[in-house]
Amino acid sequence: MVIHSGVRSIPGPKNLFGLKNLRNISTDGFLKFLSENWQAYGDLFQVQIGPKKLVMVVHPDYVRHITMTNASNYLKLESYDNVRKYIVGDGVITSEGDLWKRQRRLMAPFYTPRGVQEFSDIMLRDTLLMTERWQSMAAQHAEVEMFDEMALVTASIILKAIFSTDSADEILEIKEYVETMIAYASETSNNPFKLPDWMPTGSNKAFWHAHDKVHAYINDVLDKRLAMDESQYPNDLLSKLITAEDKETGERMSRDLLRDEALTNFFAGYETSARTMSHIWYALARNPDVKAKLHEELDRELGDAAPTLDDLKRLPYTLRVVKEALRLYPPAPMYAKDVVEDDVMDGYHIEKGSVMMLLPYFTHRHPDFWEDPLRFEPDRHAPEAEKERHAQAYHPFGSGQRICLGNQFSLLETHIMLAILAKRFDPKFVRGYEADFSFGGLLVIENGLPMILETR
Ligand code: HEM
Repeated sequence: MVIHSGVRSIPGPKNLFGLKNLRNISTDGFLKFLSENWQAYGDLFQVQIGPKKLVMVVHPDYVRHITMTNASNYLKLESYDNVRKYIVGDGVITSEGDLWKRQRRLMAPFYTPRGVQEFSDIMLRDTLLMTERWQSMAAQHAEVEMFDEMALVTASIILKAIFSTDSADEILEIKEYVETMIAYASETSNNPFKLPDWMPTGSNKAFWHAHDKVHAYINDVLDKRLAMDESQYPNDLLSKLITAEDKETGERMSRDLLRDEALTNFFAGYETSARTMSHIWYALARNPDVKAKLHEELDRELGDAAPTLDDLKRLPYTLRVVKEALRLYPPAPMYAKDVVEDDVMDGYHIEKGSVMMLLPYFTHRHPDFWEDPLRFEPDRHAPEAEKERHAQAYHPFGSGQRICLGNQFSLLETHIMLAILAKRFDPKFVRGYEADFSFGGLLVIENGLPMILETR
């Protein structure tokens, strides 16, 4: 980073109250708006959107400053109020201070590369169930909406991992209620004209109905679990959360925290993985050379048997495909931090109260850090290349102490899903398909991803 002596102000499009910005975003979409401004202003630019001052962060040095060097000045405060209020309460994804530290410490052991292996059986079994479903559909070259297909599997995996839920109906019901809650929280933050949440409007009623159902479901599972003898507990995340003890105080989590953490895991962990898988199918259909290399590895290493956890070690290219999809199409294309006190970063004045939007989507396409950045090239993630790279040039899971808790879970899950499904199936685009990516809380293909199922 070049250090400048004078303090500079951050460049960006200037317009009254950000009204022109709002208009441009509503006509062109946020993705195009950000791309154009990145080209025009560079790796740090400021955008007024209505009442909010957002600082867009692309350069990996700045990502390092915000998430590591001066992380205590960049916290999850007001920007997370809606997620806190409407979805996860005091869960680890939004908490701060001592509560966050304690909860993160308590949960970290479940999410280490070894810890998540305990869930590999669920991941393997659920994906194999999907192959049975797809087998008959592929025989008829059925058209599927790929994101929905992937979400069915990842929702089922995470609900089984947390609660040992095995009823497919229950899984579907909870998934839909949680989707309603997520959509509501995001719509509420994007809509300054939203009526208060206690007014009996259609969307308020749908939200509270979904909220009450999800809470009732979790409360019911919790009641049943807490009534059991601990020696009878199933080996799932909920049991681990209940029995986790703070080493210093010997305390366990309160019931409310158990609920919030269970909900946090579901909220954070199923749509992101489903979007990653959809983006992989999209990338494979566009890159026949990569697909051929993937098939070659799967055929060589797996034969006809279903893979086991051990087999994954022999599938490095498969994992690189996952990582490359997370680079070009990161499911969480941006994440926010609130500025606590004025700061100076690379000579720029960072104003207290503004919101830093970290943008992995653009960092991952930065030509100074990625050769031919738009090319889908899994071998960029070979171990030697990873070592040489700027550590923050790749941050699909965030960076620093608040890096995604579930990153190993989701890498294992998508590695398994891709190995099993790509071994047998080769989904194709429908004729004339062009994806229309859009950029909100998550990276979404606005027009969906309809694909024709084919067996290989
Ligand atoms: C491809 C899938 C996923 C992606 C791209 C992803 C991405 C992210 C990102 C960008 C953050 C925010 C980092 C920050 O604010 O600094 C985050 C946080 C988090 N994620 Fe994930 N995530 C994924 C899957 C999962 C899964 C499967 C789980 C749980 C099983 C999970 C649980 C969490 C939690 C608990 C946090 C908050 C950590 C903290 O603040 O201490 N995520 N994730």
